[in-house]
Amino acid sequence: MQQVDIITAKERLSHENIAYLLSLKGPEKIRLFEIAASIKEQFVGNKVYFRGLIEFSNICDKNCLYCGIRHDNTHVKRYNLSDEEIYSAARYACENNYGSLVLQSGELETFGFVRRMEKLLQGIHKTTNNKLRITLSCGEQDKDTYRRWYENGANRYLLRIESSNPLLYQKLHPGDNRHNYHRRLNCLYDLQATGYQVGTGVMIGLPFQKINDLADDLLFMSRFDIDMIGMGPYLEHADTPLYASREELLPLEERFQLTLKMIAVLRIMMKDVNIAATTALQSIDKLGREKAIKIGANVIMPNITPGKYRDDYLLYQNKPCTDENAEDCKTCLEARIALTDHKIAFGEWGDSIHYQRRQ
Ligand code: 5AD
Ligand code: SF4
Ligand code: FES
Repeated sequence: MQQVDIITAKERLSHENIAYLLSLKGPEKIRLFEIAASIKEQFVGNKVYFRGLIEFSNICDKNCLYCGIRHDNTHVKRYNLSDEEIYSAARYACENNYGSLVLQSGELETFGFVRRMEKLLQGIHKTTNNKLRITLSCGEQDKDTYRRWYENGANRYLLRIESSNPLLYQKLHPGDNRHNYHRRLNCLYDLQATGYQVGTGVMIGLPFQKINDLADDLLFMSRFDIDMIGMGPYLEHADTPLYASREELLPLEERFQLTLKMIAVLRIMMKDVNIAATTALQSIDKLGREKAIKIGANVIMPNITPGKYRDDYLLYQNKPCTDENAEDCKTCLEARIALTDHKIAFGEWGDSIHYQRRQ
C-alpha cells in the first residue's frame, strides 16, 4: 500500500495530510486521482448535472484586482440583458431539460438591482412552469436581500471566498471597506442561515498563494459545511492591477494540475457535495473540464448567454466559448461528456446530496 492510500483512507485529513496530497507528482498523483474517482462513483455516481449559465450583466461596482470586468477597467463595453433576453435563455434551458439555471452578474447593491432580481425570479419560474432550480451568483448583499431573493424562488447561491486566508484576500482586493474579507465571510453565513444551498470556491495558482493556503481553503470548505464548490485556476488579465505580479505565477500547466489535485482531495474530504468542472480549466487544457469530471467533479455549466454579449464578460483572458452560442455549447458538451463514460442527468435538478443531508 502506498502512502497516498493510507492517508486518503483516514476519516479526517489534517492540514499536513492535505498539503502532502496537493504536492504529489507522477504515479502517486495518478493514484490520488483514481481514489477520488472511485469515491465519486460510490457517493454521487457517474451523472453530470447541467446548469445553464446566463452572464446577464457585466456592470460591477467593485474593483477586485484580478478581474477583467472590474469597475475601473474602462476598456470593457458594459451590457445588461433585457428581461426578455433572460426569459428566452431560461426557456432554452427548460426546453433542453437542463434542470437548473445560474444567473451571474457583476456586483451591484442598489435598490433597483435588488428589485429587478425579485421580478426576474418570479418571471423565470412563471415562464418555465417552475421546472428549474435557480442559482444566483450576484455577490455580496445584505441579509434582507438574500431573504427576499430566496422567498422569490432562488434556491442556491454561489459566492466564492476567493482565498480563505485574510491576508492573501487583502492582497487581491483594494484596501477599502467595499472589499472586506469579514463581510464576505458573513455573507456566506447569512446565505446558509437563510436556507440556500451554498456554493463557494477559490482561485488556484494566485500570486503569493502557497500550498498551505490551498490546504486551508479545503479545510475552510469542510468546516463551513459547504454544499457546492467551484474552483478554477487563476488566469491573468492584462487590464488588471494583479497583472503586475505575473512574474510570481506558476506555469499554466502547474496551475492546471494543482486545480485537479484540489478537486480530487476535496472529493475525498467531502464525498457528497456538488463540484463544478469550471470553464477556466478549459482555458489551459482543451480537455480540462473532462479531466475534472473524471477525477471528482459532477457539475458543468453550459453557457447560454446570447452569443453577442460573450466577448464582454471576460473575467480572464482566453476565456472559451466566446464565439459560440447556446446550441454550440450544448452539442460540444454532450460530445465531451460522452467521452468520459458519464451520463448527463437531463431533466434532474441535481440538488447537492450534502445539502439534503444537512437539512
Ligand atoms: N482568473 C480566474 N478566475 C477569475 N475570477 C475573476 N477573475 C478571475 C481571473 N482573472 C473568478 C472569481 C469570481 C468568479 C466569478 O470568477 O473567483 O468569484
Ligand atoms: Fe466585480 Fe465579481 Fe469581478 Fe469582483 S470578481 S470585480 S465583484 S465581477
Ligand atoms: Fe462552449 Fe464547448 S462548451 S463551445
